[in-house]
Amino acid sequence: MKTVYLNGEFIAEEQATVSVFDRGFLFGDSVYEVIPFYRGQGFRLNEHLHRLEYSLRAIQIAVEHDWIAILTRLVELNGGGNLSVYLQISRGNSGNRSHVYDAEMTPTVFACCSPIKDIYSAGPESVVGVRAIVTADLRWGRCDIKSTGLLPNILVMQQARQAGVEEALMIRDGLLTEGASCNLMLVDKGVIYTPKRGSEILGGTTRALILELAAENGIPTQEVDIDYDRLMSADEVWISSSTRAVVPVLEIDGQPVADGNKGPLWARMFELFTRYQNNLMNG
Ligand code: PDD
Repeated sequence: MKTVYLNGEFIAEEQATVSVFDRGFLFGDSVYEVIPFYRGQGFRLNEHLHRLEYSLRAIQIAVEHDWIAILTRLVELNGGGNLSVYLQISRGNSGNRSHVYDAEMTPTVFACCSPIKDIYSAGPESVVGVRAIVTADLRWGRCDIKSTGLLPNILVMQQARQAGVEEALMIRDGLLTEGASCNLMLVDKGVIYTPKRGSEILGGTTRALILELAAENGIPTQEVDIDYDRLMSADEVWISSSTRAVVPVLEIDGQPVADGNKGPLWARMFELFTRYQNNLMNG
């Protein structure tokens, strides 16, 4: 039986209910995080909590919780091991449907876990490269906020599935932004390029780790504008997210990326991630 956290209580999944007047349900008036735990330990937990505070502040939800204590307990109650924790905070239940909200409302806090693979222990051979389409980015102007308003992301993923591929990369005003639930990088002549941070993309914790590990290991990186031609002529293309780490994209819009195989710099980055994770778990 799975245990979830809801508004101060650890309870069985079946017992967790939220009002139909919750603003998360009615308006998507809520923010979230997805945080991996390996062998019961949070991976980049502080970075996730930092971004959570950023999202909460951006939409003016005031909530004080000991997130580390809550999430650690939740993971323990679900048997520890390798789990992805979903944490959602909505503005709360207003008892009616009104666009205007009362600043004093009590937020609804919900967290649950689901099993994930320990990608690093499984090794680079276990990573399956993906195929992607490029499609219009129809999202709002504050993609830096991790909002649960994910309708455009859902629609582009469905479009990808209908095209028979696994991923959707989004483009706005001629520039690539990110994937439906991941950031985007490309490699050209040994340099890693990724779109600049700003309101067009989410500041991914995995993206930040790629840039950090590259800097520590002498791999050049640049945050730049990426147009379609630049993407299509790259030596390697990667996507990154907390639950999947860094994954090679092998085909875009039906054309292979370079020779269509996982690239050497991807393999190097995966090795750096693995070493980082081992140090974190053993230290
Ligand atoms: N998504 N961009 C978007 C739009 C995302 O939804 C995500 C993460 C990322 C990568 O961020 P990070 O490296 O911090 O996971 C980038 C999560 C995993 C999700 O929605 O399930």
